Amino acid sequence: MSFESSSNSANSESPYSRLLKKSENEIVEVLTHYLKEKVEEEVFKHILIVTDVAKKIAEKLNLNEESRKLVLIGALLHDVGRCKSHGMDHAVIGAEMLRKDGFDERIAKIVERHIGAGLTAKEAKSFGLLEKDYIPKTVEEKIVALADNLVSNRKVLRKKEYLKAVKEKFSNQTDVLERHIKLLKEFEDVID
Ligand SMILES: [Fe+2]
Repeated sequence: MSFESSSNSANSESPYSRLLKKSENEIVEVLTHYLKEKVEEEVFKHILIVTDVAKKIAEKLNLNEESRKLVLIGALLHDVGRCKSHGMDHAVIGAEMLRKDGFDERIAKIVERHIGAGLTAKEAKSFGLLEKDYIPKTVEEKIVALADNLVSNRKVLRKKEYLKAVKEKFSNQTDVLERHIKLLKEFEDVID
């Protein structure tokens, strides 16, 4: 089965295609309904904590309104694919669900690229995913990936705790460790 995206398949009649035009409160309301039908309570609780972390980063960076909304939506939806898989493929599955439901491609990409500090095409292949680059590129993609990394179960890690954790976890994978540290460094001034 291929999860390759096809942005042409996005349904422009979908109410989700106009989500960015809604207020932040309306977005939260719409997506809470969307998620409650799909993910387990535990996943939903995790999502809310990650969203809180991501929102704070976006606010501290003074991102413009559309960018802040992309972060909010991407954070709320980042783990939607967990309704079908808790494996590495949950990000790709989530992104594909969102494309089918007519969400903006920028949102699908945030979800697709949120695993760790991103996956190279080679790593993706080794996890059984389509061999393509899943490294977060935009500021919104980076914020959601980092916010997810900073939440361990339901605890929000401080920079020092996170660094210690990744140094232990990736002690044998220098390139992966460096990718995590590089992502953290980009935002170190706006996180605790
Ligand atoms: Fe995830």
